[in-house]
Amino acid sequence: MCGIIGYIGNKKAAPILLKGLKHLEYRGYDSVGIATLSKKHIFVKKDVGKVGEVSSKLNFLDLKGNTGISHNRWATHGGVTQKNAHPHTDCSGSIVVVHNGIIENYRELKEWLIKKGHKFKSETDTEVVPHLVEEEMKNEKKFAEAAKIALKKLEGSYALLLMYKDDNIIIATRKGSPLVLGVSDHGYFAASDIPAFIEYTKKVVYLSDYDFVTLTPNNFKVFNLLEWKPVRRKIDTISWDAEQAKKGEFEHFMMKEIAEQVDTIQKAVQQDRKIIDDIVKEIKKAKGIFLIGCGSSYHACLAASYIFSKIAKFHVNVILASEFPNYEHFLTNDTLVIAVSQSGETYDVLEAVRAAKKRGSKVISIVNVMGSSLTRESDTFLMMHAGPEICVLSTKTYTSQIALLSLLAYALAENYEEGKKKLNYLWNIIYQLTSRTIREKIKELAEKLKDKEHVFCIGRGLQYATALEAALKIKEVSYIHAEAFAGGELKHGTIALIENGTPCLVFVSEDNKKEILSNAIEIKSRGGYIIGISSKENEIFDSWVKVPESNTENAIVQIIPIQILAYQLAVLRGCDIDHPRNLAKSVTVP
Ligand code: AGP
Repeated sequence: MCGIIGYIGNKKAAPILLKGLKHLEYRGYDSVGIATLSKKHIFVKKDVGKVGEVSSKLNFLDLKGNTGISHNRWATHGGVTQKNAHPHTDCSGSIVVVHNGIIENYRELKEWLIKKGHKFKSETDTEVVPHLVEEEMKNEKKFAEAAKIALKKLEGSYALLLMYKDDNIIIATRKGSPLVLGVSDHGYFAASDIPAFIEYTKKVVYLSDYDFVTLTPNNFKVFNLLEWKPVRRKIDTISWDAEQAKKGEFEHFMMKEIAEQVDTIQKAVQQDRKIIDDIVKEIKKAKGIFLIGCGSSYHACLAASYIFSKIAKFHVNVILASEFPNYEHFLTNDTLVIAVSQSGETYDVLEAVRAAKKRGSKVISIVNVMGSSLTRESDTFLMMHAGPEICVLSTKTYTSQIALLSLLAYALAENYEEGKKKLNYLWNIIYQLTSRTIREKIKELAEKLKDKEHVFCIGRGLQYATALEAALKIKEVSYIHAEAFAGGELKHGTIALIENGTPCLVFVSEDNKKEILSNAIEIKSRGGYIIGISSKENEIFDSWVKVPESNTENAIVQIIPIQILAYQLAVLRGCDIDHPRNLAKSVTVP
């Protein structure tokens, strides 16, 4: 996943693009580049590294012109090198492009273009785009017309920004990758995500796939390449502000977003009752329900399967989106698929949804990003209202997903009002769990664990999903190997790994405390270090994190101290908290 932002207006473009790229760094940070247009000349600066590093090396702010496009890269095709950094140009450097997505037929296009005499500088799929436009312009076509024809040759996904030296315009177009416009009183923006320009304007235009936008300093026009005609897109005004998209009092987005759960749980359950009731009708009508997601969203689906079973006595299947192809043959037009995805751009989820639609199944999705591909490809969707989640790790959106799925389970059990009240009330517990006192206490635990090579996490029932999520949090931000097991599975092999001092997080709930505590004893008797996450202390525990018993809401409250633990471990180990190595906020590639 990469981040792109373009600007055209009456202010200098480079400072605006540089700030925008900083806000988009969570989308990828292998390399960065900016191209600007001034007096019919295109200037390009780009290199490997993060925005701050490359900017101080190349001084992006020197770039002239009030029109520009820019890019943060998360490498998919071609290594992390200066040549593979975006922007990319045609042979003469007259056409320049930045791209987020994957061009699946780029090899055959590149061969065809090379035969036509085009010279390539990079290994990327993206570089075929400026050369395709250059080829079309040889047939006397104007830039925008040539671009329309060239784009029809592309297969795969793209969000593209293009410039040509002789036209003071930006072409912005999308298919399967996010792109949104910003409308300000001094110019126009096109970006992968709203935080890139929110400090300048809250007026946004959500684009549809195949929208082809011509941006000038004074207006924008939208043409749809599928319908092959001009279309109108309305200007929306978003509710959240620049502050929300900034770190606030916290050093890292991760801790800010963990603390935001005091509010985001309540926002998640502020839903249109009619939509909830319509969805419940679909659930009741369906013959077979599949909850699908990846990573933390998958863990939320797994937690939901226990919650649906407990609250509504309702069976739902849970499947990793990447494993969905192995089950597609079960789908009929009576099947309901509930897709859960914070970004709404995860490749495996989108592919599963497309497969389900092909089989006539209904698709409902739970998403955090309005205007994302998943919101457009689902029959209905529910917004998590968690606000932008900038840290690569999913924290507030994970608990929002569970809250929303729990609300559906309560509605299904005809217990909506009581359920909503229970979920709303959680903010009290979350407020205590994210207080400075508790954060300090958890930091002491982190001090004990920070040099450990392995951490185990166990839980039974709903707490098994929490154990999986706990392990993922610790792994992906502190790089400590953490592994989760259903409590009952430990003696089937894994217990062989327990040595003296091996730390094990034990998630305890009232309904299975006897069994999980006996698992804890098995570990302790082999020298394990037991960290209990529970409402009551126990002599087995070497360390105890107190979390009030919350029954089916345990999945929300018990993960919070572990999110903080993962954060504190990463701080102590000097890791890059908001941009962990090798990760991206949304995995938009297979
Ligand atoms: C979670 O901390 C990770 N960032 C990752 O597992 C994430 O949950 C997964 O990639 C799914 O993303 P999505 O919710 O945007 O689909």
